[in-house]
Amino acid sequence: MINVPHVIPYQGSKRKLAEDILSFMSFDINTLYEPFVGSGAITLASAVNGKAKKFVVADKLEPLAELWKLIIDNPEKLVSEYSILWNEQLDDPRGYFNKVRIDFNKTKSPSKLLYLIARCVKNAIRFNNNGDFNQGADHRRLGLKPEKVQKEANQISNLLRNKISVVAGDFRGVISSATENDLIYMDPPWQGTSGKKDPRYAFLLNIDELIEELHKLNERNVPYMLSFDGTCGDKSYGGDLPTSLDLFKVELNAGRSSQATLLGRDDVTIESLYLSPALMRKEVKKKIKKTSKQYDFIEEGN
Ligand SMILES: C[S@@+](CC[C@H](N)C(=O)[O-])C[C@H]1O[C@@H](n2cnc3c(N)ncnc32)[C@H](O)[C@@H]1O
Repeated sequence: MINVPHVIPYQGSKRKLAEDILSFMSFDINTLYEPFVGSGAITLASAVNGKAKKFVVADKLEPLAELWKLIIDNPEKLVSEYSILWNEQLDDPRGYFNKVRIDFNKTKSPSKLLYLIARCVKNAIRFNNNGDFNQGADHRRLGLKPEKVQKEANQISNLLRNKISVVAGDFRGVISSATENDLIYMDPPWQGTSGKKDPRYAFLLNIDELIEELHKLNERNVPYMLSFDGTCGDKSYGGDLPTSLDLFKVELNAGRSSQATLLGRDDVTIESLYLSPALMRKEVKKKIKKTSKQYDFIEEGN
């Protein structure tokens, strides 16, 4: 795949699976929706590969959506604010991280969020019950360099400016305008095994609400893909979705998890991708068209 720019190092990013996921996007997509955008691995890979004409992304975590707006509309401002933070930390990286965390919890500044994500343990954002960022710093590294932010943010801005709309809010608001000529890629926060609140994300999704939305999309014939559960070794995450949704499940190999690598185990993470009935019809139609073209060609050649 062509080189894809990335500026937000985000735990749970779908970067490694982007090529596999994009292989199910072979029809002409008008707008690609990514309503749980995070670092937007699929939007970025799709934009670089010319998979859609327009893009809509959303995240309920407001400062993250604001960070996306800044990357697209004013990368220079992001780079200048981020460079100040990165350089100011050099005298006392430990104390400085804590200071920025306190500031961020008051101001919700998007460039401070990028600094915190880039410097925190495993790039995994965590919030307490008051909604305050409470992940600690990884003291072995200083976070991505300002030059890297500059290069990647400029590329992303050039790639998506005038083609993308960024929304801070719940996924339901944005997907309500999707049509049968669009595609929605959804990567909601994992359900987890124990039903306990997953501290990795600011919000956890109510599974019944998600299922209700999927039914509505089916009724409207909207093609969508959903990354949902996963298994890693003998641990499994998430549960099966109801058969009434008529989804087609594909298993993707996400390689060894960093956790398994740390523990010296060979576990391979298998992630499920569910394809909606409307998407399956599009993909099948495309395949039939291709096959019949080949057939026509053979006929003509004879
Ligand atoms: C698993 S992450 C997505 C990662 C993304 N695929 C990537 O490549 O980085 C899920 C994201 O959904 C957001 N989120 C959680 N609940 C949401 C909701 N109800 N509506 C919109 N976004 C939500 C979280 O803030 C988080 O950024």
